[in-house]
Amino acid sequence: MEIIKKEAIVKKYSNENELSAMEKELLQAAHDATQTAYAPYSKFKVGCAILLENGVLIKGSNQENIAYPSGLCAERVAIFHAGATYPNVPIKMMAVTAKAIDYKVSEPVMPCGACLQSISEFELKFQSPICIILQGETGDIYVAEGTKTFLPFQFYIKELAGG
Ligand code: THU
Repeated sequence: MEIIKKEAIVKKYSNENELSAMEKELLQAAHDATQTAYAPYSKFKVGCAILLENGVLIKGSNQENIAYPSGLCAERVAIFHAGATYPNVPIKMMAVTAKAIDYKVSEPVMPCGACLQSISEFELKFQSPICIILQGETGDIYVAEGTKTFLPFQFYIKELAGG
């Protein structure tokens, strides 16, 4: 038996002024996007902002449904919009934030597994990791260099990916 260990590294910033101007703008856009969330059931509003290689910024927010599984997370709303509108433009980075109606979200919010899997598809498509910036409504900011940080043993079959 052998132990296979993979390391996950995130950079933690306690102040947004430590970010680059672009990262800061993207984070603010994600905070703004929480305003468009439709979250009457969870009362948990998630905002996502995506920066494409061509400089275009795309926003998304969680959209819930009375039939719960029919709703969609902010990250997938944003990234599928990016894929549908700019199918040939790689994604450079994304920011995700959250705001709850009844309490303060002061820890960074991790994208769920299904969102990480969806984001990873765009990394695969463009052969380039997507920088992920995370924050709650306030508090520390985490910056990760791609989905592999959170999904180190990611599903990947080279034959399925075209060789
Ligand atoms: N949610 C997201 O938008 N992104 C995630 O990565 C996890 C969860 C949403 C789904 C649902 O509308 C609410 O947060 C509570 O789970």
